[in-house]
Amino acid sequence: MAADGNITKDLIYDAVAPDDFESMLDLDRYNGRSTAFDKIISATHDHFWDPLDKKYIDFDEPWDMDNQPLVPEELNVALQTKYVSDHLNTPSLRAQFINKSLLRSFSSILHGEQGALNLSASLCHVLLDQGAQEYAANQTREEARHVTAFAKYIKARWGRPVECTK
Ligand SMILES: [Fe+2]
Repeated sequence: MAADGNITKDLIYDAVAPDDFESMLDLDRYNGRSTAFDKIISATHDHFWDPLDKKYIDFDEPWDMDNQPLVPEELNVALQTKYVSDHLNTPSLRAQFINKSLLRSFSSILHGEQGALNLSASLCHVLLDQGAQEYAANQTREEARHVTAFAKYIKARWGRPVECTK
């Protein structure tokens, strides 16, 4: 049970209002770092990857977007219907349909990654525990890499993402 008597809340997640920077400068707070996140924070370097390093992902790999589907046909729900399947009756038309559909999926993921980046960053402003705060900062950096990777992939394959609602 947490020290405040609330069984569903651990004090390491204690937070302040986003505009309460004064609480972050509280002298007692600096000596109150929990060890709950130490292992995962230390593992950051082991899990490091770089979306700008071709050893991890090479965004310059060529792809024929008009003729090569990025995923197998079975993964495109619309192509499983007789109507769409009959209408798109050449390999090239099917590949273009699959690849254009995927732009929507990848754009949604990209917007989600941007949301995760903003959320993680906002946690750094409100979490009181320094360990929790450092973990949130690590996650912020990880989400920034996700944004970079998905943005670069979309740029390489489609040129530009589409809006959330399309
Ligand atoms: Fe992410």
